[in-house]
Amino acid sequence: MTEPVHFLHLTDLHLSHPGLADPHLLTDTAAMLDRVLDRIAGIVPPPAFMIVSGDLTNSGAPESYRLLEEKMRGVAMPVLYALGNHDSREHFHAVIGGRETDLAAPLDYDRVVAGVHVIVLDTMIPGRVGGTLGEAQLAFLDGALGRQQGLAKIVVMHHPPALDPNAPLAWETLDWPATERLCRVLQGRCDVAAILCGHIHVARVAHWHGVPVLTGVGLHNSFDPLYSGGLRAIEGAGFSLCTLRPSGLTATVVSLPSEARELRILPWETVLSLR
Ligand SMILES: [Fe+2]
Repeated sequence: MTEPVHFLHLTDLHLSHPGLADPHLLTDTAAMLDRVLDRIAGIVPPPAFMIVSGDLTNSGAPESYRLLEEKMRGVAMPVLYALGNHDSREHFHAVIGGRETDLAAPLDYDRVVAGVHVIVLDTMIPGRVGGTLGEAQLAFLDGALGRQQGLAKIVVMHHPPALDPNAPLAWETLDWPATERLCRVLQGRCDVAAILCGHIHVARVAHWHGVPVLTGVGLHNSFDPLYSGGLRAIEGAGFSLCTLRPSGLTATVVSLPSEARELRILPWETVLSLR
């Protein structure tokens, strides 16, 4: 790659079909996706591809994947999906993924798009909020990192790696053993330009063992990082316009206008009990 490659990073769409009763939906995510797709359609030059790093739907319902498929039909670029803890592997494959066997297996794959080697890992643990990576998945990653020599690599996974071994909110990240194993696999891989994540609904940059970990706020809501009385969900959404150059990755955060209205506060007892 000699010329800059522009691409998009969206995350946490939490799309929910309007016909579904969805008590956990905090905002109109279908309208938000329309709004974002409208903005994206006007970008010049057009991005080469789009990465969506999980929580595609809010409840994993087939109707919501059908709605996603309909809305993305008009997107004029390849879309690379990862799955998150709000997703259903089975329903994703029934509507979008197209896999016909082994539907419960993690969705791990790699693809070269516009000269960029994108490696997607499925960190979800069905029924849990936190994430992990199994041995077979790390072996897949190790193999993928050995392919496409000379191409910059972007790793995509819904849950970011853990930053502390005994974090009280362990559900926010990969578990610690998986984090340590991931670190060993990535060690010395200077061709990994970044890990793109979602899950925590906060726009955050971490420099993790030499690798930038970019976490997008997503399209559903954001969490107030300054509130200490619990987990305070507020209005707030965005996506990133990324540019990959031979020197590395730049991610420009595009914030969607919001009044940061309070949506919900989860008390600490609830937040600490999440797994
Ligand atoms: Fe999410």
